[in-house]
Formats: sequence, C-alpha cells, structure tokens
Amino acid sequence: MKTKILVTGGTGYIGSHTVVELQNAGYEVVIIDNLSNSNANVIDGIEAITGIRPAFVEGDCTDINTLRKLFEENPGIKGIINFAASKAVGESVQKPLLYYRNNLNTLINLLDLMPEFGVKGIVFSSSCTVYGEPDKNPIDETAPIKPATSPYGNTKQISEEIIEDYIKSGAPIKSILLRYFNPIGAHPSAMIGELPLGVPQNLVPYLTQAAAGIRAELTVFGNDYNTPDGSCIRDYIDVVDLAKAHVIAMKRMLDGQDTDAVEIFNLGTGRGLSVLELIDSFERATGVKVPHKIGARRAGDIEKIWADPKKANEVLGWTAQVPIDETMKNAWAWQCKVTAK
Ligand code: NAD
Ligand code: UFG
Repeated sequence: MKTKILVTGGTGYIGSHTVVELQNAGYEVVIIDNLSNSNANVIDGIEAITGIRPAFVEGDCTDINTLRKLFEENPGIKGIINFAASKAVGESVQKPLLYYRNNLNTLINLLDLMPEFGVKGIVFSSSCTVYGEPDKNPIDETAPIKPATSPYGNTKQISEEIIEDYIKSGAPIKSILLRYFNPIGAHPSAMIGELPLGVPQNLVPYLTQAAAGIRAELTVFGNDYNTPDGSCIRDYIDVVDLAKAHVIAMKRMLDGQDTDAVEIFNLGTGRGLSVLELIDSFERATGVKVPHKIGARRAGDIEKIWADPKKANEVLGWTAQVPIDETMKNAWAWQCKVTAK
C-alpha cells in the first residue's frame, strides 16, 4: 500500500512541485489548499506530469473542523508537509495579524490533530530569513537566529519554536524543519511553475516578466553593497531540487529509527550569486535580453547570504543538481507558456 501524505498549500509554487516528486516516488498525496494564492488548475498540471491526479480538498487550514473532516475522510495519513502560509514580506508589515493568524493557526491546528489521527511526522517550510544578516557566509544550521525583520519572518521563527516545544512536551511526532534559501525556476515540462499575483515582488518572476515585455524594466535594488559587483548576493535553489529534498526528508522522518525528533536542514546550493550575475546567467541561457536599470536599495534587504548545505548533503544524501542556466531556461519556458495563455 502507498504511504499517504497530506500536503497543505499543495497547489502553490513549491507545494505543486513537491506533489509531483512525492507521486513520482510512489507516495499517495492528499492536498489541502484554500486557493488564496494559487489556482485549482495546477492539479491538471500535476496530473499531466505524473499521470496521477492527487486528491484535492479546497479548504482553509485555520479551520480545525475542516482539517478534522479531511483526516476522517482520508484515513491513514502518515505524514504532513506544511507549505500553507502567507509569504509576502511587505504585506506582512502592513497586515501582521493576518500573517500571525494564518501561519500560526494553520500549524497549531495540524500539530493538534496529528496524535489523534496517528500522523507520525511533519515537514515544515522554514526560511533562511531566520538567520537575518549573517556574520559570515556560507551559513550553517548552528548559526544564531537573529531578531526577525518582518512579521512574516517572525512567523517562521515562532513556528520552529512551536514545533520544538510541542515535541519537547512529549507529543508522539517527529519533525524536519527545512530552511529554504531562494527557490526559483519551474518544472522542466513547463506544466507547473510560479504564478505571482499582481506585480512580482521577487527577483526571478520580475526578471522573466521584464524579459517578456510585461514590465518595462527590472530595477536592480542597489549596486553599492559590499559585494564584488555591488549588488546583493543570494543562494538561488532550483524548485525541483528543493521539492526532491522534501521526499527524502519525509522518508527519513517516517522510516528512520534512530533519528532525532526534530531535525533542521539548510536547503541551498552553497553558492552565492549576485543580482547582476543572475541577470547574466538568464541572458546567457536563453539568449533573451533583460531590460534593467540600477535603482535604490530596497529597505530591509540582506546584503549577502548563502547556505552551507553540508548537513543536508551528508545526512539526507541530497545535493542541489540543476545548473543555474538550466533553471533559467525552465523559468523562461514557464514565463512564455503563461504569457501565451
Ligand atoms: P505559495 O503562496 O505559492 O504557496 C502557498 C499555498 O498555500 C498557496 O497555494 C495558498 O493558496 C495556500 N494557503 C495559504 N494559506 C492557507 C490556508 N490557511 N489554508 C490552506 N491553504 C493555504 O508559496 P510558496 O512559495 O510555494 O511557499 C510555500 C512555503 O514555503 C510557505 O510556507 C513559504 O513561507 C515557504 N517559503 C517560501 C520561500 C519562497 O521564496 N518561495 C522561501 C522560504 C520559505
Ligand atoms: N531584487 C531586485 N529587483 C527586484 C526584486 C528583487 O534587485 O525587482 C533583488 C533583491 O534586492 C535581492 C534579490 O533580488 O537582493 C532577491 O530578492 P527576492 O525578493 O527574490 O528574495 P529575498 O531574498 O529578498 O526574499 C526571499 C523571499 C522571502 C524569504 C527569503 C528567504 O521573498 O519570503 O527569500 O527565504 F524569506
């Protein structure tokens, strides 16, 4: 019998790619998503890639009765991957309660129901934002957590603490906290990808929209940082590589006999790229120019951060594989498909 996994936020960007990899690896998936930041037709894309249509519940994880009904109607769920969250940093500053309510109530409801329904483990989507501006790079999991610079970032820190406290209290569950660096790209089939609503806030969707002529030009937020070319540095991780790490984490959590009840892993490539280097790599990979200009710094931006992924490499046996030019080609193929619609 296939092991059944609940994926919250499974029609979203990282969730949909992870559902594909879970199904490819032989897991049975149930998705819950309230479609606040995604579209139900993502399920068609998942089915087109894998040949399997995952079960889908349109519902809100902040409603414990909806979740209880889901567990009753889908007995035997063994693991959860919790992607469901609001994730716009700027919006979280404007609407902090929305972020605390959505992100924390979702997690608390899931944790609350896990023992009752025999769910053994939860993989949680955390973020390198918990490290703030690092004292040194690359950064590993033992680095100190810095005060959050936004309510969104704070929900990730508090969520990690909630999980740790719950397990310390004796709750019969395990958890793996995955700290993502900067997920980018799309599935190579161009059947699923990132669908930002409105004006993109993140670099790659803005860049591909500028290349497609949807935006006049990309603004590079600052070229006077203390970096080789003056623009900020990030660790850009291909979304399919990221998705695969969740499958490995789930297997380890459910099958591992001697693993700690809570484990934390950085998910990044270990290589920092500047904004200007990323633009170069897009142009090199696709042959398409990105209209861009240098603008002012964006408030709150970290100057440079990239991962030390050694723990994930050695303990999970996971390494980022997709070369950046490949990721850029996939991001562009997805943009072209979305533009053509
Ligand atoms: P996304 O917005 O594409 O996906 C999240 C999904 O959750 C959406 O489909 C949304 O409709 C759904 N959702 C939100 N609240 C819900 C609720 N209460 N009930 C049910 N569904 C709900 O975002 P993503 O980029 O795929 O991010 C997934 C997770 O990874 C989030 O927790 C995010 O904070 C985290 N993360 C993302 C990044 C990034 O750069 N994309 C970086 C670090 C961490
Ligand atoms: N950037 C530009 N122009 C743009 C957009 C971004 O120059 O139009 C620059 C930013 O200044 C930054 C880099 O591109 O230097 C990456 O910016 P993103 O907004 O794509 O990503 P961030 O690293 O700022 O933040 C992302 C997510 C957060 C998450 C964080 C760490 O948006 O939710 O990664 O995981 F917390």
